[in-house]
Amino acid sequence: MRMSLDDKPYDIVVFGDTCVDLILSDKDIKPQFGQAEKIVSGYELEMGGSCCIFAAQAAKLGLSVRLLGRVGDDSYGRLIIDTLRSAGVDTESVIVDSTLKTGITVHLAQDDDRAMLTYPGSLNALTAADATDEILASARHLHYGSLYLQTGLLPRWIEILERAKRLGLSVSLDTNWDPQEEWDQGFLRALNYIDVLLPNEQEAQHLSGRSDLPSAISFLREQVPLLVVKQAEAGAFAWLRGRRARQAVMPAESGGDGVGAGDSFDAGFLAGWLSDLPLETCLAIACQCGRAVASGRGGLRSQLWRSDIAAL
Ligand SMILES: Nc1ncnc2c1ncn2[C@@H]1O[C@H](COP(=O)(O)OP(=O)(O)OP(=O)(O)O)[C@@H](O)[C@H]1O
Ligand SMILES: [Mg+2]
Repeated sequence: MRMSLDDKPYDIVVFGDTCVDLILSDKDIKPQFGQAEKIVSGYELEMGGSCCIFAAQAAKLGLSVRLLGRVGDDSYGRLIIDTLRSAGVDTESVIVDSTLKTGITVHLAQDDDRAMLTYPGSLNALTAADATDEILASARHLHYGSLYLQTGLLPRWIEILERAKRLGLSVSLDTNWDPQEEWDQGFLRALNYIDVLLPNEQEAQHLSGRSDLPSAISFLREQVPLLVVKQAEAGAFAWLRGRRARQAVMPAESGGDGVGAGDSFDAGFLAGWLSDLPLETCLAIACQCGRAVASGRGGLRSQLWRSDIAAL
């Protein structure tokens, strides 16, 4: 086990939305029913899940990361564990559960568009009972992601945040998109326990219930000590106690699909923040990580390592 930056064994604990992504691509990807077989020009199979991609990026940047998750006793579960391990993530708390199938999303990708079919399985199988005090207390920081997809945790997610704070952890939250588009589950109440909130612009508006971005930002920056807003090719900005910082980015290289950019951005930001680097530096590292991933295909292969980032 790699030691963290202080006396706790881990820098970050994260709950894994474990699943694999099977991406089938072609100029014409539409399936044809009536038992017609269609040949496609390419496919990728890799670990998916925002929190898993986040964990891999955080570990590649040198943080010691513990991922708590469940996988099925199947080859996709083993692929996830192997991928996390080779990034340097501690997988001792990944439970192999023979009653589950590992989650999978089949992406049908054509030009810049895609359709997705998901079997959640292990993706939402964690429950609050898995998130014991012992696991929380082993880290300095809890990163909570994929709020609305990890439905097993949802009934008691605020209690988990409350416990994490009581145990002395700092907490960050990237809700990602709400597929039900309800944007609730006690989000506003949960903000009492959040140190760093990491939405993109659309999520900031939905979560705050404001119809325009400026009012969403002025509301959210009053609710949390540190608000970081992701703006895809426009970079990102942050508000820390009344002070604003902004980071522009060079356009990503063509051919990238943007998968995992936001999760890798989060990991880059927290790698800086947990090392007490200035806000501007944290944003710069985050954007460097986000852009690298946005320039490649899939969420993992173009992630940067600690040695790629001069500021670390
Ligand atoms: N096309 C792009 N060109 C350059 N950088 C990009 C591009 N897309 C994303 N990035 C970088 O990645 C960061 C995060 O991306 P984005 O704003 O898409 O997050 P997100 O909406 O949370 O993404 P995700 O879909 O992964 O959840 C941006 O702030 C930027 O630094
Ligand atoms: Mg996101």
